Amino acid sequence: MKFPKTSTFPQSTMRERSMGPNPLKLCEELLDYADIPAGSVVLDLGSGAGLTSALMAREFGYVVYAADLWSDPSDNMCFFEECGLTNRQIIPIKADATALPFAEEFFDAVVSVDSYNYFGRDPSYLGEHLLPLVKRGGELLLAIPGMVRDCHDDLPACLLASWTPEQLDFMHDMDWWRANFAQAEGAEVVDMCEMCCTREAWTDWVACDNKFAAGDRAAVEAGALVHLNTIAVRLRRR
Ligand SMILES: C[S@@+](CC[C@H](N)C(=O)[O-])C[C@H]1O[C@@H](n2cnc3c(N)ncnc32)[C@H](O)[C@@H]1O
Repeated sequence: MKFPKTSTFPQSTMRERSMGPNPLKLCEELLDYADIPAGSVVLDLGSGAGLTSALMAREFGYVVYAADLWSDPSDNMCFFEECGLTNRQIIPIKADATALPFAEEFFDAVVSVDSYNYFGRDPSYLGEHLLPLVKRGGELLLAIPGMVRDCHDDLPACLLASWTPEQLDFMHDMDWWRANFAQAEGAEVVDMCEMCCTREAWTDWVACDNKFAAGDRAAVEAGALVHLNTIAVRLRRR
């Protein structure tokens, strides 16, 4: 696949700041599924070390709130400035997705790459914590690491080569997620599909030089990608 916007970031930056399958490629493909105009105010939820936030602010022209629990907003702001961005374009904030400090209907859109499955598996999450912050008619775009088919009752050895059953419980198939979203009143599922760049995003990730990528390598080398996908979800607030 071609990723003209992702390519504006040096590969060394992607490798230093990724926390999972190449977030730049996942984000660029995800945004192709929707039509969020430049100038939109976007929440990047679970933004990690800020790669997707910088991509959206610099290459898509959004005003981005980069909200994350584990990363340091000061470190992220240094990275954003290195990318040529200012605090008029991008705002890093340490926040828990279950207690977001924003006004109701504040955001035009929400984007979440490789993070929603940490906090969104609770079916009450979407309706109670996230949807109220989005304008009516606004979209939520999620790239969720998932399974082609749920296989928690009989986990293949290739998955267990890197992950425990508890860790694998963070991954589910499209039917499971559809049932989860159906419980949120006021959310319409516009579209769900498997993303095309999953394999290359994982290949980029396991080539990174950090202990988390090294830990995931055994599963990928044992054939785990036959069972894994990335689920692109497009939701709209009614
Ligand atoms: C696998 S990392 C992905 C980060 C980033 N989106 C990327 O792709 O590089 C998952 C992220 O989810 C965030 N996260 C987990 N639980 C969270 C919560 N309750 N509230 C906000 N962020 C959370 C973590 O801080 C972490 O940065």
